[in-house]
Amino acid sequence: MKLHQTYHAEIFKTATALNRAGAEFIITRAKEAIAEKGRFVMALSGGQTPKNIYALLADAAYRERIEWRKVFIFWGDERCVPLDDEQNNAYEATSILLSKVDIPLSNIHAIPVNLSPQEAARKYEQTIRDFFEDQPLQFDLVLLGLGKNGHTASLFPDTEVLTEKAAGIRAVYVAEENRYRVTMTAALINQARCIVFLVAGAEKSAITAQILSASGNGMDYPAQLIRQEDGELYWLMDRAAAALIHD
Ligand code: 6PG
Repeated sequence: MKLHQTYHAEIFKTATALNRAGAEFIITRAKEAIAEKGRFVMALSGGQTPKNIYALLADAAYRERIEWRKVFIFWGDERCVPLDDEQNNAYEATSILLSKVDIPLSNIHAIPVNLSPQEAARKYEQTIRDFFEDQPLQFDLVLLGLGKNGHTASLFPDTEVLTEKAAGIRAVYVAEENRYRVTMTAALINQARCIVFLVAGAEKSAITAQILSASGNGMDYPAQLIRQEDGELYWLMDRAAAALIHD
């Protein structure tokens, strides 16, 4: 299955340029959403690539450019580790960014890690439903990374969650890590107004080319399950990650 869909690819010379562009992208989307509807609802990703962007956004040069009091933060996925573990996506984003900007605590919705993975997933889905009230579950922006095995969020190859058609949150056992994670389903991500993959580094070049230009299917390469429905899909990459893309 080729990724037969419209997506915008932007390739930056260096990882530094990618990080700056990623930060600017978030700022622009936040301004637009706040101007239009008074709030900006964003789902963050784990992994190293977005962390560099979070660090930039926390920097004095960027921090004041977003009206953080009107920003609402969720996560696309979480590793089931304690809240003060460096592997915890919410912990990392909070220490790098959220604790440094003027965002009310009540605007930050982390995935619970003090419950069983299944219960955490059920509760987080309810949190999202309550937040959107009677509106569609549509995030303004979902940030995603890409694993070398083609996973994104915690949609890992050959896991049951890949066949889930409902837009929601699910627990997933990741055999290679011998632990659970909690993740948005592809259907929930795909409802977003804007989805952005952030991919950096030569070690991602083979999988990036595979996903964007070669054959495969969503079971083998879960990132291929991410497709725009109502919104836009962006791939922001540095040159090293994009090196093997042919067309
Ligand atoms: C996570 C993620 C995951 C991540 C990729 C890429 O919590 O692990 O959300 O999908 O984005 O593994 O991570 P890197 O940017 O570190 O390569």
